[in-house]
Amino acid sequence: MNIPMVDLKGQYELLKEEIEQGFRSVLETTHFILGPNGRALEEEVAAYCGVKHAIGVASGTDALHLALRAAGVGPGDEVITTTFTFIASAEAISYVGARPVFVDIDPQTLNIDVEQVAGAINERTAAIMPVHLFGQPADMAPLAELCAKHGLKLIEDCAQAFGAEYGGKKAGAYGDLGCFSFFPSKNLGCYGDGGMIVTDDDRLAEEIQVLRNHGSRERYHHSIIGYNSRLDDLQAVVLRAKLKRIDEYNQMRRKNAHRYTENLQGTSLQAPTEDGKGLHVYHQYTIQTNCREPLQKALGAAGIASAIYYPIPLHRQEVYAVGCAGLELPVAEAAARNVLSLPMYPELTTAQVDRVCEVMLGAL
Ligand SMILES: Cc1ncc(COP(=O)(O)O)c(C=O)c1O
Repeated sequence: MNIPMVDLKGQYELLKEEIEQGFRSVLETTHFILGPNGRALEEEVAAYCGVKHAIGVASGTDALHLALRAAGVGPGDEVITTTFTFIASAEAISYVGARPVFVDIDPQTLNIDVEQVAGAINERTAAIMPVHLFGQPADMAPLAELCAKHGLKLIEDCAQAFGAEYGGKKAGAYGDLGCFSFFPSKNLGCYGDGGMIVTDDDRLAEEIQVLRNHGSRERYHHSIIGYNSRLDDLQAVVLRAKLKRIDEYNQMRRKNAHRYTENLQGTSLQAPTEDGKGLHVYHQYTIQTNCREPLQKALGAAGIASAIYYPIPLHRQEVYAVGCAGLELPVAEAAARNVLSLPMYPELTTAQVDRVCEVMLGAL
């Protein structure tokens, strides 16, 4: 039985009629950019997340970039973030001319270590950017406290956590700004690139609307240098169909995750932990093991995909290494050596989860 990391085809088959009908209506009305589907999606995402505003943009990376710009982060500023994330989190900080300050992670959740954030704050710090890694929110309450105390912006990288919760709020609703990616394999994914920013702040929302549309408030009047970064209506059709079912999809992911964890109990493989502060939506199911290579080999030989997110922490990446010379973040460095992500998507069956575990346990 071949088992991929993600199977987008199965979900498409189930949603085909609704999506194709939506596509046809976009094609017939030719409202491709900033049309009614995009606007409706923004309203639906804002309502789902329990915030006043949602603004569609061209990708998750752009969501982070525009959020930082709207928040006024720029040259000379520092933004504290986790070293154990996808490069886009840091790239966005660099785009605005600020410096990413990488800190270590909690060994259980692999999310940013709050104590280390506190220790990294100085007069140049402008914002904190936690990443809700693999679908579990970072520990937001103490981070919000630090931001309030030091006058910093809190910008959530929610790319991997659509529908996750922390302290009774949806991911994205806790900070000043929440940034989502709709990359196809994300929990809420479209059929191309897409992203969204959520916020309760009227001024930030208006600024982002201007930034995403060439710095224009009024057609052909440009008050600032902006970007071409809009979410198109064809993508909005896909996202609206999936948004209706997102809680069900996330529950299916959680069911599969719990089955994995049950199967791995009593073995040397360390299952991911839920911190009990909200809802983990398992964008990835990532174990930690000191025998990753033989496990991956055995899985591969059995036709089962697996992946390493992430093999190199950001402070060790070539692009950031010079600025981070001498910086040691041992928890993240160990995680990079030990993590292994297993197949995870809503439609994955219990039999498939059991098969993945059977192959891994046979290789130990
Ligand atoms: C943590 C994180 N941040 C940001 C991004 C960037 O999103 P996108 O690929 O939509 O630009 C991703 C995903 O790709 C991600 O996983």
